[in-house]
Formats: sequence, structure tokens, C-alpha cells
Amino acid sequence: MTTHKLLLLPGDGIGPDVMTEVRSVLAWIEKAGLASFEIEEDLVGGAAYDAYGSAVSDQAVDLAQQADAVLFGAVGGPKWDDVPYEVRPEAGLLRLRKDLQLFANLRPAICYGALADSSSLKREIVEDLDILIVRELTGGVYFGEPKEIIDLGNGQQRGIDTQVYDTYEIERITRVAFDLGRTRNNKVTSMEKRNVMKSGVLWNQVVTKVHAEEYADVALDHMLADAGAMQLVRNPKQFDVIVTDNLFGDVLSDIAAMLTGSLGMLPSASLGAPDARTGKRKSMYEPVHGSAPDIAGTGQANPIAMISSLSMALRYSLDMGDTATLVEKAIAGVLEKGLRTGDIYTDGMTKVGTKGMGEAILAELDVLADAAGA
Ligand code: IPM
Ligand code: MG
Repeated sequence: MTTHKLLLLPGDGIGPDVMTEVRSVLAWIEKAGLASFEIEEDLVGGAAYDAYGSAVSDQAVDLAQQADAVLFGAVGGPKWDDVPYEVRPEAGLLRLRKDLQLFANLRPAICYGALADSSSLKREIVEDLDILIVRELTGGVYFGEPKEIIDLGNGQQRGIDTQVYDTYEIERITRVAFDLGRTRNNKVTSMEKRNVMKSGVLWNQVVTKVHAEEYADVALDHMLADAGAMQLVRNPKQFDVIVTDNLFGDVLSDIAAMLTGSLGMLPSASLGAPDARTGKRKSMYEPVHGSAPDIAGTGQANPIAMISSLSMALRYSLDMGDTATLVEKAIAGVLEKGLRTGDIYTDGMTKVGTKGMGEAILAELDVLADAAGA
């Protein structure tokens, strides 16, 4: 049996709460004889700052480089509001993305039928929604230089961020989007702001060229990112794959997430380029939600986004697609039975906490495994 090397980085806030449930699912998978895991764990975010004075240690980055997959919880919280910008909790996440060159961020937004009433939109708009946002993750305004606040000497300061994209960065994220489009409904929508941004003009040209030369079989639309945001709320089911830059992807994926009923439901995968020799990609999996410091440690957090992130890791990094399907079925089954954490609770359902949801998913896994074995 293959042994997979995993690095768990629970982080801050509810990160450790939801990671506990992932550990139980990993233990279940081992016990079921489906795989074995070599699990390392380290600190990231505010927790790493408190321990080492930086948002992620070199040692943790090394472990991440060696892992078959990294599972990341969440970072940040008011406790670290005043720490220096360079070592703020988010810097740990950004360094991991950059050092591992995880340029492709996959953010699926799937609305489970059982949850359509938790969305702030009408059921018919979101029911059975299944879209995928492909966000560029190592470029754009997040990392562009100069990035600084300078003194203008007249009592004024100037804050500067730089939005910058090179051709190769747009090409490689575009290919990821089209390749994924081919495995889905064969439709890609590219979003930028070519009406005000030079990087948007280039983005549009490069996507158009890659499409014409390599992916003419996939339908391609272009939308301005603001219009795209509006369409996501007006008629989200028109989309299949959306490809966009780092900052627009950050914003659009929060909108898409909320369509599904709760940020607490959505996983994400961040992937690097396949290694030339082994074909393996560096990868990190994290829920789209943040650290929710207000409910950290209270046992109320929804662990589904974190457990779904594990399921994406099984599928995309560990070649365990069948086990991923099993985990996804277990989640859907528990929702069908009416179990809800606070964030997705509606009248008449059964309210459970983090632990209750995790245990219910394990029990459902037992049932599914028994049925498969019988
Ligand atoms: C996300 C988050 C991060 C981002 C923060 C925590 C730096 O919002 O993953 O969407 O802006 O990328
Ligand atoms: Mg975000």
C-alpha cells in the first residue's frame, strides 16, 4: 500500500478545530485499509508568529516542499492586528503559495440540493449549481513590485501596489482552466478589466490566443470582472469554469461561495506545475473560509470545507479518486439526513457542532464502506 506524506498546517482560529475532524477522517481511511499516511504537522499564521516571530518557519516550508499534499486550515485574527506587515499571519499563507509556486487555485462552488435554502438567493437560482473558479495565485497585485507606502515629504504618503502579469503566467493558468473545462461542461469564461487595465488587455489577448491555438473545441466567453460579479449573482448557472487573476479571483470566489449557502462548505486546491520527471504537482488544500476568530474553540465551526479539501487532495494529489468520492458521498448523506452546523442551519433541521458533524461523516463512511463491501 502506498504511504502518502501529508503536512497539516491547522493555523489559527477555527483552523485547528476543523483540522481535528480531518485527522479523524485520515484515521478512518487508514483503518479501512485504503492507504497509509505519514503525517507531519507544523504552525502557520499567528500561531507561528507567537512561537517563532514569523508567519511560517523555514522548516514548515521545507516540510511542505517534501509533502505529497499540504492541508491548510486558516490564518489570522484580531490578536495579530498590530504585528508588523511582513510577519502578519497572511504572510505565511502567501509565502507557501509563492515558494511552492502554486499558481493554480481551484475553487469549486457546488450547491448541495439539501442546502439550497441556506443560500441568500432563491432556490431555483442556486439549486444544483456546479461551477469552478480557476484563480491565478502567484502573480498580479498580490506579489507585484513595487509594493510600498512612501513618504511624499509634504505631509502626504502614497500607497503603491503593482498589478503585473507576464505572458507565461496567463498562458499556464489558461491551460489549467481549459483542461478542466474539457472534463466538465466544456465552457470557460475569462474575467478581467481590459477597459481600464493594461494587464487586463494582455490577459484577454493571451487567453484568446491560447484558446484559438490549443482549445478551439472549448467554448470561450470574455466578461469584464464587474459584469461577471453581477452575472454570478443574477444567473450563476450560466457558468462552468471561470478563469481570472489573483485579486478578482479572491473576490469572485467569495461571491460564488456564498451562492452555495455558506463559506463553511467550500474547499480549494492550489496546484503547481507538474514535475518534469515524476509528473507530480506540488499542492496545498484549504477551505475558502477564514479563521472565524469569533467562534474559534467553541465547537461550532463547520468542518465540511476542510474535509472536502482533504477529499480534493485525495483526488488531485494522492490518486485516490474512489476514496474522494466516498468522502463526498458521506458529506452529502449527512446533509440529506438534516444535520447542520450553525452556518447552514435552517428551521426543522438538527443542529450539530464541529465534533457532531465530523462524527456523523465518519458514521456515514462506515455505512457506505459496509454497503460497498457487501
Ligand atoms: C483567500 C484569502 C487570502 C487571499 C488571504 C487570507 C490572504 O482571502 O485565500 O481567499 O486573499 O488570498
Ligand atoms: Mg479570499
